[in-house]
Formats: sequence, structure tokens, C-alpha cells
Amino acid sequence: MGSGQWSVEKRSSLRSDSFSKDIDDVPETGCLSIIVLGASGDLAKKKTFPALFNLYRQGFLPAEEVHIFGYARTKISDEELRNRIRGFLVDNKAASSKYSDDVLKFLELIKYVSGSYDTEDGFRRLDKEISEHEISKNSHEGSSRRLFYLALPPSVYPSVCKMIRNCCMNKSDLGGWTRIVVEKPFGRDLESAEKLSTQIGELFDEPQIYRIDHYLGKELVQNLLVLRFANRFFLPLWNRDNIHNVQIVFREDFGTDGRGGYFDEYGIIRDIIQNHLLQVFCLVAMEKPVSLKPEHIRDEKVKVLQSVLPITDEEVVLGQYEGYRDDPTVPDNSNTPTFATMVLRIHNERWEGVPFILKAGKALNSRKAEIRVQFKDVPGDIFKCKKQGRNEFVIRLQPSEAMYMKLTVKQPGLDMSTVQSELDLSYRQRYQGVVIPEAYERLILDTYISFLFI
Ligand code: NDP
Ligand code: BG6
Repeated sequence: MGSGQWSVEKRSSLRSDSFSKDIDDVPETGCLSIIVLGASGDLAKKKTFPALFNLYRQGFLPAEEVHIFGYARTKISDEELRNRIRGFLVDNKAASSKYSDDVLKFLELIKYVSGSYDTEDGFRRLDKEISEHEISKNSHEGSSRRLFYLALPPSVYPSVCKMIRNCCMNKSDLGGWTRIVVEKPFGRDLESAEKLSTQIGELFDEPQIYRIDHYLGKELVQNLLVLRFANRFFLPLWNRDNIHNVQIVFREDFGTDGRGGYFDEYGIIRDIIQNHLLQVFCLVAMEKPVSLKPEHIRDEKVKVLQSVLPITDEEVVLGQYEGYRDDPTVPDNSNTPTFATMVLRIHNERWEGVPFILKAGKALNSRKAEIRVQFKDVPGDIFKCKKQGRNEFVIRLQPSEAMYMKLTVKQPGLDMSTVQSELDLSYRQRYQGVVIPEAYERLILDTYISFLFI
């Protein structure tokens, strides 16, 4: 994982620092330019711009300081990009006039520059636009911050990073910074990931690089450390003596949805399992870190990953949904899996013998991401509990965040019969009125405000 700043770990460090109050990060102010590269794409439309909008609405992107630039090869005007974003932001929403007003004001902050990812011409034009904005905000008298968000397939990261380095670095003599945010999947395999790391590392210092896995920003993923290590209940139960198996499941009820070109190159294992589900797996299975400092969390994650035995062919199932090859951007003979399930086995004292079943699929019958921890049967059972099903602890990451425990209880009434019931913590009911931030809101905020949680 290197010494890079993985968003959740950076957040964690902020939190731990917030306990110890010894943070040495300098508050960052000055003109902020956020540049979304790949602005014509799915991620930009569905997640990046909406997250920026929500940050704007909450006052984290003040109009006096911020400008947002979209960059991609597609030739569209500022207005066309704004219309796309507006379409997504207001789609299916019974928008209040305040909301619509905010959308319009937010869109005014956005400009679009079209250019290629491997020639300097477009990046020079981009740099000119950013500089003009900085000057208009008087930032030549102060520091300026440039955040480049690569909402792009990893194949173009090296050339894009090179262009940024050559043409678009922050030029203020008075401080500020240039940072880049890169998305998963980080390469295709170990070799390409290491190569990518070296290529980006030659262009930027490690503190300038943010590698994002947005699952780490989901509320219930952020909650995993607290849940596991701040609750006495779980401490003695979280092991091979009590747990029969753990399932980490991602399912989506739509297919490639216009992203066949990207998806077919990577497949479901690289798109979802290797990053999102493995991060969740690590948080469920790792030992308690020494503290919440990023390095301590990373070290525990690495240890548990190193204890995973090689996955055997017999414990992997792959599939492809019917109709996948009808996508015009997918080759007719594609073998790329859109569904995968596999068993991970951890060779350590805590987990020996407990299967961790990771499952991910696109175009299935529902959209859900959850962790299911199934407990062993009660020894010497006198109630025939088995009939009711096992004790189970479920953490639903989405939709409708919830945690519930399935337990066996006495069926109310005169009979001494048993039934399965739930202890249910559904966030919507328990935390009424609390708006749970989108994963990307937290993570993007972490890339430019480093003292929020003090
Ligand atoms: P897209 O397929 O929508 O690609 C984004 C943009 O990149 C496109 O609009 C296109 O812009 C450009 N592009 C696409 N393919 C290529 C290519 N082969 N060479 C050069 N440019 C290309 O992908 P997404 O937006 O869905 O994903 C981008 C990244 O974000 C991926 O790494 C993905 O893993 C990650 N991600 C995506 C999420 C999502 O929900 N979509 C969520 C989390 C992460 P143009 O042609 O205009 O230049
Ligand atoms: C992305 C994948 O990382 O995560 C997409 O590239 C997938 O294929 C998306 O649709 C799912 O994210 P979420 O937050 O909607 O579960």
C-alpha cells in the first residue's frame, strides 16, 4: 500500500489527532480549483459532481474561493456539461425552489475544457483557464490550491499525471498546493499497480497523491472500527470459536449502463472485489490497530491480507449476465465476468477454518451491499434452535443503512416455542433528521480540508 494517503486512513488520522490534539496540519485557505478529468463520464456525473454540489450546499465550497473545471476529450460546451449535471441533480427530485436555486448557483462555478489526455495542448488551455480564475480571485496575491480528480480509467493515469506535472502545477510563490486524486482500480495486477505507482511517484510526492476507494467513505464502513473495537459484546465473539462464516456481498440491479468500454477491460473482480470488498474484508477481519493513525490501520490490514491463503479454483464461481455482450462497447466474444464469488481463508489464530465468502454481481435482481456474520449453532441445544436458523449479525451498507442481529427468542404466548427475531438498528428510524453524507462527500472533503475534525 506504500506510504500514500488512503482517504480513510487520512480521516482516521484526523480523528485520532482530534483525540490527542497534536495535529500539525496547517489550515489551508486560498483560491481552490477542482478539476474533474473525465468529466463526460459516469463517475463524474453520478458521484463526483453531486458530491461537490452537496459540499457546496453545506458551505464547504465557498463561491468566493472555488472554481470547478471539467476536462475530457468529448467536445461539449460549458452549457452542455452544466445541463448534464443539472439533469442528474434534479432528476426524479421534487426540488424545492431553494434546491433549484442552489443548483443554478453551483452550475455557475463550472467551466469545461476539451482536450486529449496525452498531448500538452489541452492541458495548456486548462492551465490558462485555471490561472485566469486564480487571478480573478486575487490569488496571485495569496496561495492557490489545485485539486485534480482523475475520474478516468487507470490506463490513462500516467499520461494525465505527466501532463498535469508539465502544464498545470500551482504557480503561486506564496504557498498552496497541487494534489491529485486517483480512482480504483489501481492497475490490473501487481506488476501494473507497481509500475503505475512508480510512474506517478516520479511525478508527484506521496503527500500529493490521494488514492480513493469510496467504499471506505460509506457510513457503515466507517463504523466498522468503532463497532468492533468499542463494544465489549463483540470482543470475545469475533473469532473462529463462535463465527461459522462471514459473507461480504455486493449486488447491483443494473448492468454496464454505457460503461462497457471501461468495465470489459477490468471485470467484476478488479472493479469491485479487489478494492471495495477487500477493504471491507480487512476491516472485518483485522486485529485491533495500535491507534487510529493511518499507518497503524494500514499495518493491520496488510497483516490480515498476508495471512490469506491462495484462493483455490474450486472455491471460485464466475458468471456473466445474459445480454452483457449486447452492449455495443463490449466485444461480441467477451469472457469478462460480471459476477464472481470466492472463498477467502485466513491462516491465523483468530480465523483458521472460517470461510469469508465474497460475492459481487452486476445486473442481479436487487441492489444491496452487506456484511453477514453467521454464528455457529448453540452447543447442547435444548430448543431445536437450528430449525429457526443461526444467530446472525448483519451490517447493511446500502441501501437504507442498518445493523441487525437475528436471535432466537421465545414465541410470545403460552407455548414454550421459539422464533427468530431481530434487534434492529435501522439508521433511518434511529437517526431521524440526520443526513448521512455520501461516501464521496467525505472523501473529497478530506483531500482539501485537513483539519476538519479537530
Ligand atoms: P467511464 O467509462 O464513464 O469513463 C470516464 C471518461 O473517461 C469517459 O467519459 C471518457 O471521456 C474517458 N474514457 C473512457 N474510456 C477511455 C479510454 N479507454 N481511454 C481514454 N479515455 C477514456 O468510466 P467511469 O466514469 O465509470 O469510471 C472512471 C473511474 O472511476 C474508473 O477507474 C472506475 O473504476 C472509477 N469509479 C467509477 C464509479 C462509478 O460509479 N462509475 C464509482 C467508483 C469508482 P472522453 O471520451 O470524453 O475523454
Ligand atoms: C464503482 C464501480 O467502483 O462502484 C461501479 O466501478 C459500481 O461498477 C460502483 O457501480 C458502485 O458504487 P455504489 O456506491 O453505488 O455501491
